[in-house]
Amino acid sequence: MSERKFQERLDAARAPLGAAQGHGGLVLFHAAPSLWSKAVRLALAEKGAAATAHEMQILGRRFDAGHPAYVRLRLDGIDGRPMVDGFSGRASVRHDGIDPAAVPALVDPAAERVILDPLRMLDHIAALPGPDLSPQRLRTEIARETALVDAAPFEALPYGAHPGGDTRPEPLREAVRGVHDARIRKMMEGRSLSIGHPRLIAAYDAAIRKEAAAKVFAQSAELMRGAVEEVLTLIEGLDTRLADGRQWITGEAFTLADVAWAAALGHLASLGLDIAWTGGHALNGAPRNHVAAYATRLAARETMRAAGLERPGTSARAKPAAATLPMPAARRLHEPLAGHGRDVRDDTLTAAVLATFRDTPNPRAKKVLSAFTRHLHAFLEEVEPTEEEWEFAIEFLTRTGQLSVGGRQEFILLSDVMGATARVDLINHRFPSGATENSVLGPFFVEDRPVFDNGADISGPIKGEKMFFNAKVLDTDGKPIVGARIDIWHADGDGGYDILNPEIDEAAMRGLFRSDPAGRFWFTSVLPASYPIPEDGTVGDLLRIAARSPVRPGHVHVRIEAPGFRRLTTMLFLEGDPYLDADPVFGVKQSLVESFEKKTGVRAPDGRAVPSPAWCVAYDFVLARKDR
Ligand SMILES: [Fe+2]
Repeated sequence: MSERKFQERLDAARAPLGAAQGHGGLVLFHAAPSLWSKAVRLALAEKGAAATAHEMQILGRRFDAGHPAYVRLRLDGIDGRPMVDGFSGRASVRHDGIDPAAVPALVDPAAERVILDPLRMLDHIAALPGPDLSPQRLRTEIARETALVDAAPFEALPYGAHPGGDTRPEPLREAVRGVHDARIRKMMEGRSLSIGHPRLIAAYDAAIRKEAAAKVFAQSAELMRGAVEEVLTLIEGLDTRLADGRQWITGEAFTLADVAWAAALGHLASLGLDIAWTGGHALNGAPRNHVAAYATRLAARETMRAAGLERPGTSARAKPAAATLPMPAARRLHEPLAGHGRDVRDDTLTAAVLATFRDTPNPRAKKVLSAFTRHLHAFLEEVEPTEEEWEFAIEFLTRTGQLSVGGRQEFILLSDVMGATARVDLINHRFPSGATENSVLGPFFVEDRPVFDNGADISGPIKGEKMFFNAKVLDTDGKPIVGARIDIWHADGDGGYDILNPEIDEAAMRGLFRSDPAGRFWFTSVLPASYPIPEDGTVGDLLRIAARSPVRPGHVHVRIEAPGFRRLTTMLFLEGDPYLDADPVFGVKQSLVESFEKKTGVRAPDGRAVPSPAWCVAYDFVLARKDR
């Protein structure tokens, strides 16, 4: 990846997060409740190292760690390791793989490195100038201790409780309520914004599977019991190692092992689980005095405060939760209800259903629901489906919905092939005569596209016969519109779009232009060809049942926006294409069919030579004013 591209990724990941704290070479994405975020902050503080820190929301509704720009940045650090699959209670890259939507992430822009494994982050920080946190002679022991923290199920603890007692403070319990579902929704959103980016889609799928498994884990008394008991045993073991009176875990020197344990003990204290060393609790009766003294020594370090760590000596233990919670008032079920009456029969059913919408307060909703009822019942009366046919219809729609995940939207496709999309387009884009006709947007427009100067070749690495596109943007009086924003996107000579092409990573055959002072814009690309819409779903079945062609005639998509004018979304079709009269999505209009002629020695409006030969098209796009 180029340095510029890397910087763009980094900037994009920071963008949704707003202001950062601190400054310096390293960039840290972290969150307050995350154990390894705490450890990395502490290691940086111990080193006195500068870093730009971006606080991520992982408990609230925002869930920054699910933002596509951040997930994309994390994919740059994946380094061939597997992605997370399920949830083990840990946040261990080594044991569980990469979680593409997790914190922390440490970025070293100078080295163009994105580090996702917290243990590697600690090593990276240890190599910075400053106190030696990883002396050579202690490395084996340090690695053993940090691995213990890494392998323990600390990650599960904030989200659930041991069935024998919930020690978590009430605000935390409140904050994690519904958090898994909120994250899944957020990641579904991110996934649907990642159309055409298979790596991102796969990353979201992994993260969503993990989140769903984490929810099951948190709700399982058995798994949560296991996690808490494992942690209690771990603290018991720590107590044994500290029993010889050593000051720090590996002896007299404060090392990365203490950094990891400080974060772990701070994490436990924030969950009220410092009972692991204070004792006197139903879950743990025995105090662990060596750990308690160690926690006090850690708490005394200046760096703990600088790193924003809970002092592991202080408990955040919950007060017992109130025994009763206010319940929403139950609906009174026995009130008399003015209804549609009983004894509904053949000739009264439709009227009975319509009557149920009579009191719909929103007049628009009332109109829509009533009309839908009338047409649905008329349809059923006309076709008189058998029960098997009706089951088939329900199953067809169910499958259509199930196919509509991520980049795939089978329902839109169904709307397209039924002409519903074209109908809605016609209803909403009745432009005055003289203005260019609108057409459907289609599924291949993406916001993330490069900006070009007029005359650019936008084909990128795509090979094919050259096309020269020479156009003007005019108002309905024929005057040029200067500075209009023009989006172009189209398929290649095999009918394929860049975002579906696994061999290329960058945008191709798409870009954003501006019209010049004469209202002109022009560019070179490759000539597009006709292509079939996806045929492997329910819509494909429908087309096969009807013996319809799935092939769209070749076209170039154009979208033009200019202040004071209505946005034009349209496409230009290639005259002579054999599929012009059978467009499966009904997008073709005669006014949008134009001849593309193969020419040699053509010059662009600025006098520069156009690749020769090129398929040339000239077209005037006319925009309607907003006030007409
Ligand atoms: Fe298209």
